[in-house]
Amino acid sequence: MTGQIRTELNDHVLELVFDRPDKLNAFTMAMYQALVEGFERAGRDPEVRVVLLSGSGGTFTAGNDITDFMNQPMGGGSDHPTLRFLHHLVDCEKPIVAAVDGPAIGIGTTMLLHCDYVVATRGAKFRMPFVPLGLVPEGGSSVLLPRRIGHAAAGELLLLGDVFSAERAQSLALVNQVVDGGAASLVMSSRAIAQRFAEQPPEALQASKALLRARDRAELHQVIDEEARVFAERLRSPEALEALASFVQRKK
Ligand code: COA
Repeated sequence: MTGQIRTELNDHVLELVFDRPDKLNAFTMAMYQALVEGFERAGRDPEVRVVLLSGSGGTFTAGNDITDFMNQPMGGGSDHPTLRFLHHLVDCEKPIVAAVDGPAIGIGTTMLLHCDYVVATRGAKFRMPFVPLGLVPEGGSSVLLPRRIGHAAAGELLLLGDVFSAERAQSLALVNQVVDGGAASLVMSSRAIAQRFAEQPPEALQASKALLRARDRAELHQVIDEEARVFAERLRSPEALEALASFVQRKK
């Protein structure tokens, strides 16, 4: 598969590894496209029973690659790789497990709302910095987050965009399990949980996931498109242009 997303199928678990450690696994359009291909494979290949998402180099992902998404903003068409990825998260019929180490920023946090089980290291750091960047929430998080953690906590995390810890994420039910022992222990624990999903009777597993998610699905597709429309408008705003340019310029 396209570089920067490593793909491996082991014992019915399709591992999709974000592998661009020099840029903290920030997602380029090519990486979104590769993730879309991974989810398409998960959908059609009966050998795949579980999808396991993880990052390399001590980072989950620093979110959208800021330069890349300034050049190719999502919004207009649903064939944009970012949007296609988000819609795949909603439609994936097989359980999705995420293994989070280090920073999980922007989409790195919001994608977890679509996962069925999240394991994090104690050092994982979560952040949804959309408002500080002059942007708005994406990936269905404007609906999923308040539904999951209540309006007060969702307002705090989405509107202030502060960093929060693995312990806080677990206390808010955004993370199922926090592991000590760093990356090695994360790999072991996340593969073990993925294996447990893979050992369930596959038809019952998929039928049950469908029942759990059915009521939200149509609404989420709509919300994701609506968020993307506003996000694209915001990307052209002076607030966002200034915040994003200052990230790009900060080391120069
Ligand atoms: N897009 C593009 N490049 C990114 C990136 C992003 N979202 N996040 C990190 N990088 C790059 C940096 O530019 C740097 O590249 P360089 O070495 O060529 O300059 C490299 O990854 C390492 O990042 P750096 O910022 O030096 O690491 P840090 O440990 O000092 O800080 C973060 C880590 C996560 C706090 C910081 O990188 C950050 O805030 N990134 C932006 C996250 C973000 O806002 N994402 C949401 C976008 S919607």
